[in-house]
Order: sequence, then C-alpha cells, then structure tokens
Amino acid sequence: MISATNISKSFETPGETVDVLKDLSLDLADGEAASIIGPSGSGKTTLLNLIGALDRPSSGSIWIGNQDIATLTADEATRFRNHSLGFVFQQHYLLPQLSVLENVLVPRLAGDWKEPAEETEQRARELLAKVGLDHRLKHLPWQLSGGEKLRTAVARALINQPSLVLADEPTGSLDPSSTDTIADLLLDLNRDQKVTLLVVTHNQALAKRIGKTFELRDGKLWSAVAK
Ligand SMILES: Nc1ncnc2c1ncn2[C@@H]1O[C@H](COP(=O)(O)OP(=O)(O)OP(=O)(O)O)[C@@H](O)[C@H]1O
Ligand SMILES: [Mg+2]
Repeated sequence: MISATNISKSFETPGETVDVLKDLSLDLADGEAASIIGPSGSGKTTLLNLIGALDRPSSGSIWIGNQDIATLTADEATRFRNHSLGFVFQQHYLLPQLSVLENVLVPRLAGDWKEPAEETEQRARELLAKVGLDHRLKHLPWQLSGGEKLRTAVARALINQPSLVLADEPTGSLDPSSTDTIADLLLDLNRDQKVTLLVVTHNQALAKRIGKTFELRDGKLWSAVAK
C-alpha cells in the first residue's frame, strides 16, 4: 500500500536549510496499521504530508498502491486525495461558516461522486454518531470544544470511505474515553474493512493498541515498542 523509499525532505528558510527527513524508508502492506511516535519537530507531520501528496519529497520515491505519487499532476493528486485518502489534520481546518454535518460532507462536494445525496448524508450522520456527536449536528465550529472539532475532523476524513487513513494526532485534545472512541473507530475500520492506517500520536496507549510502532528520530524511522 505505502512504499516510501529513501525519502529526504529539506526546507529552505532564510539563512539555513532545515533537513527534516533523511533517507527515510517506510513500507506498509495493504490493510496494515502502524503508529508513528517521536518528539515535537522530528518531522511526523512533514512525513504524513508527503504520503498524502500534499507536499513532495526533496528526493526519494513514494508509491501508494500502484501510483508513484511524485509523478501525479495537480489534478491527479486531488483525485487521489478525494478517492483513496482520509486525512485527519493536526490542525483540523473545519470551515467556520459550516455546521458539523456540513463540514463532514465537504469532501463529498469535490470530485465526481455518483452516490445519492441522502445516502451520503446518512453515512455522515452515522459517522458523527460513532464519534459521539449526533447531538451537535447543527453546531458551528466555534460552538464546539477542541475535542469535538477533532472528532468532527475524524468523521470528515472517513466520509469518502478511503482505503488509506493518515491521522495526525487524532486524539490530541481528547479525554481517555473519547480517545478510546476514536481508537475503536479507526481500529474497527482497519479490522473490518481492511483500511490501511498510519497514525501519528503522542499517546503511548493508542500506539500500543495499533500494534506496530515506529519512532521518528534523526530524520529516520526506527522500529519501536509502545510502553
Ligand atoms: N514549511 C516549512 N518551512 C521550514 N521549516 C519547516 C516547514 N515545515 C516544517 N518545518 C520544520 O520541520 C521540522 C519538523 O516539523 P513537523 O511539523 O513535521 O514536526 P512534527 O514531528 O509533526 O512535530 P509536532 O509533534 O510538534 O507536531 C520542524 O523543525 C519545523 O520547524
Ligand atoms: Mg506535527
């Protein structure tokens, strides 16, 4: 599913080049789940952005399924993100003028979906019920708590039934019970629908539940054991 080989990523800033990822490789089979832990600033979000085709590596190759994502045109990258990928961002980027339900439906507005609108909306309601937000459908983002915004973003990432979910701290601002809810949802998808899952987390308990763990350190991924 994911085959990233010898990828490096540097950022040019005034005065210096920041080398974030250095010759990093990652292989994840179809339907596999893994977590990435590592200190703040180690490059976890940078790596997810590369795998999600939101940014390009300075060198190296990234294959997702049978696509070399470095060679995608902008339109193809958008199509890949719309059809195959669910991305839970560390900053959730909810649209402020839209309700919770509408925000979850946003990914459905892009692309060429054929499904009847009622079915999509029904799925959005079910996802929101699963993340415990069925009583907040009409709230606007500013009327939500931090954890509720995050849970909305998780539901939004799943509306297109992606085969790959990349989640950047999906339980960052959640209490233990909501953390379990999100973990259950992601792990159920992985187990029942064979969704491939890559989760960045500072939460050792979540990393442990996901099973396979990598630590991002010194620009590379190292096999790790969650405590
Ligand atoms: N566009 C950019 N320009 C310059 N430097 C950048 C850019 N994006 C990220 N960096 C730098 O790359 C490093 C890694 O950033 P990244 O956001 O990937 O870290 P992270 O592991 O996700 O950290 P956190 O746990 O705090 O979210 C940081 O030192 C950051 O300053
Ligand atoms: Mg980050």
